[in-house]
Amino acid sequence: MNIFKPKKNFSLKAYNTFGIDQVAENFISVNNLDELRKVLADYADESLFVLGGGSNLLLTRDVPGLTLHIGLKGKEIVDADYTKNHVLIKAMAGEVWHEFVLWTLENGLGGLENLSLIPGNVGAAPIQNIGAYGVELKDTFERCEAMEIKTGLVRAFSKTDCQFDYRHSIFKTKLKNKYIITAVYFKLTKQNHQLKTEYGTIQAELAQQGVKNQAPSTISKAVISIRQQKLPDPKIIGNSGSFFKNPVIEKALFQSLTDKYPEMPFYEAGDLIKIPAAWLIEQAGYKGKRFGDAGVHDKQALVLVNHGNAKGQDILSLSEKIQQSVFEKFGIQLTPEVNIYP
Ligand code: EPU
Repeated sequence: MNIFKPKKNFSLKAYNTFGIDQVAENFISVNNLDELRKVLADYADESLFVLGGGSNLLLTRDVPGLTLHIGLKGKEIVDADYTKNHVLIKAMAGEVWHEFVLWTLENGLGGLENLSLIPGNVGAAPIQNIGAYGVELKDTFERCEAMEIKTGLVRAFSKTDCQFDYRHSIFKTKLKNKYIITAVYFKLTKQNHQLKTEYGTIQAELAQQGVKNQAPSTISKAVISIRQQKLPDPKIIGNSGSFFKNPVIEKALFQSLTDKYPEMPFYEAGDLIKIPAAWLIEQAGYKGKRFGDAGVHDKQALVLVNHGNAKGQDILSLSEKIQQSVFEKFGIQLTPEVNIYP
């Protein structure tokens, strides 16, 4: 078997949802833990780039060294009676997130319905604590397993270990490039589901669909419909979801801004105030704008898109232009949510 023989100068276009055509010097996909451990040992001296679903990634140049695609598959109910109300589920890192969510719903389980249709794979979900419609991964996360790159040893990380925050975990800071997440465990409800329908237009969507019996599956359908209306399908138009995080600002700045822009939407975030980046970008005049093949989505200004043959650099330049305009107009610095390579 030559599974460890890398593909040379391999195009990553199909492996990133922006559809950017950069090549990996060496590309290997691994399907089980033994393969992963062996490849990590064999390539210990090479620079390593770990690739999951490629849905939160902007490639701005070719990738030297080894690009390692995590193809670990499998999902199971580990404990059907984890508590009276809960089951414990295990999903391997290479499972496609949305297919996994649909599987939990088919099994009548609750907890992940608001996170329907988020692109990407299970293994990437804890890294940035994915979130949508009032729910974050951390709400159902029980623990994950991750392989240490240096030693090949697998270690468990509890929810506390992961230090989750808004689009953040320890895997983005202290443990960056140290571990590869191999499996994630979720605590999901089998009855008495805690449905969350307060966010945005979920209730309106449920009413429009004529839903009388609210259940995880009907919430999922509503979320899918909302996302399909607002967010571009990466299979049709390249994108990585929200390009920036929603910024949090000091109350003093907020006060001076609301004097000037009384209609500015905001959310309380402890002592700080969170402002939707989409609103700032729209006000700066970028919604629906296009510069060559790099553009801003016309239905959601937080999403940058590749209309066809944009280079990573084109998208990056556009993002910098947006950052500059927003800063000049509002004094707010936008931070990318997407991982920019290198
Ligand atoms: N808005 C505008 N212009 C727009 C779009 C939105 O002004 O073009 C304003 C509206 O006032 C709206 C507010 O922004 O009420 C918030 O918009 P939305 O509900 O669409 O959510 P968001 O804050 O822009 C966040 C997440 C999304 C997630 C949605 C729904 C971040 C960075 N993004 O976007 O996550 O789907 O909430 O929960 O937190 C992702 O991370 O890739 C992603 C898509």
